Amino acid sequence: MRTYDLALIGFGGVARSLAEIIRDDSERLAASLGFRMRVIAITDLNMGTLTQADGIDLAAVLAMPRGATFAGLTGGTEDARNEDVIRTSNADIVVEATFTNPVTGEPALSHVKWALDSGKHVTTTNKGPVALAGSALRELAAQRGRRFEFEGAVMSGTPVLRFASEMLKGNQILGIQGILNGTTNYVLGQMTRGSDLSVAVAEAQELGYAEADPTADIGGSDVRLKVSILANQVMGVALTPEDVSTQGITDLTQEDIAAAHGCSQVWKLIGSVTRDADGSVRAEVRPIALDLDHPLAGISGATNAITFDTDLLGQVTVSGPGAGRIETAYALLSDIIAIHAAAGAAA
Ligand code: HSE
Repeated sequence: MRTYDLALIGFGGVARSLAEIIRDDSERLAASLGFRMRVIAITDLNMGTLTQADGIDLAAVLAMPRGATFAGLTGGTEDARNEDVIRTSNADIVVEATFTNPVTGEPALSHVKWALDSGKHVTTTNKGPVALAGSALRELAAQRGRRFEFEGAVMSGTPVLRFASEMLKGNQILGIQGILNGTTNYVLGQMTRGSDLSVAVAEAQELGYAEADPTADIGGSDVRLKVSILANQVMGVALTPEDVSTQGITDLTQEDIAAAHGCSQVWKLIGSVTRDADGSVRAEVRPIALDLDHPLAGISGATNAITFDTDLLGQVTVSGPGAGRIETAYALLSDIIAIHAAAGAAA
């Protein structure tokens, strides 16, 4: 049975959850998926670098106390040698789950380029490289005969990107409307129940939905990246995050919320891409008061959803988690499954 050797670049909550899945469930996964996974390298800003070509003992690494580094372990150092591991390890797949600057896409963008350049497949949950250079990176991957997969960049493990590219094949996708940020949807729900915006944001941080800097959530820039990914990857429209007109929820007041309630409407932060009859495309992020019978009106809490407007099927809505450690780790696993399927198809 094929074994894929993985290099985990970044060992935060999401990568650790993937390591836990591999630690706890490898036999069931091997039986159902037809391949095995082995982690041969881990790099992390806080823990350093650990490289063990015969496979790292994930139970031992996951049990290390907070603040510990890999220094002193066989194959371990306290420096995060990302470039070295990505370029020179024998990993088949680089699992990229580091922090990304949303403006430059770095350092994740370089990690992805180095991996593809050195002939490795890549899975990432980072929005930055996909929003800023997704199509170029897919092209680079194709030139190298490798895959660049990023299902977790939009709606974590809920498979909206693959749903659009695989299950909606044959349709023209005329438009997309989505609730693409769990934090703001949670916050708007709490405000409807009378909570203050800042209190609700603090709760969302506590629950692990919000970005490290929650202004990316409530100001709309997180959704802006996801909208540009959807425009590029699902609708084939070449636009950048700057092309997406963006307004967050910070100006919404209790009065606005009560007024919408009085008209049987509910406020949602909506990211959308619309192709007009003349072929031009509008992409935007803004709060919209939706009528209660709109397919996205009933999406509550941190749940996300996307409605695809198609020519043959009409509106199709997919809803599910849009954030969370295990949910996003599942996105990485689904990418590895896709890499395996593509390798089988090419053989
Ligand atoms: N902060 C994001 C959200 C996480 O609340 O949806 C996933 O991008």
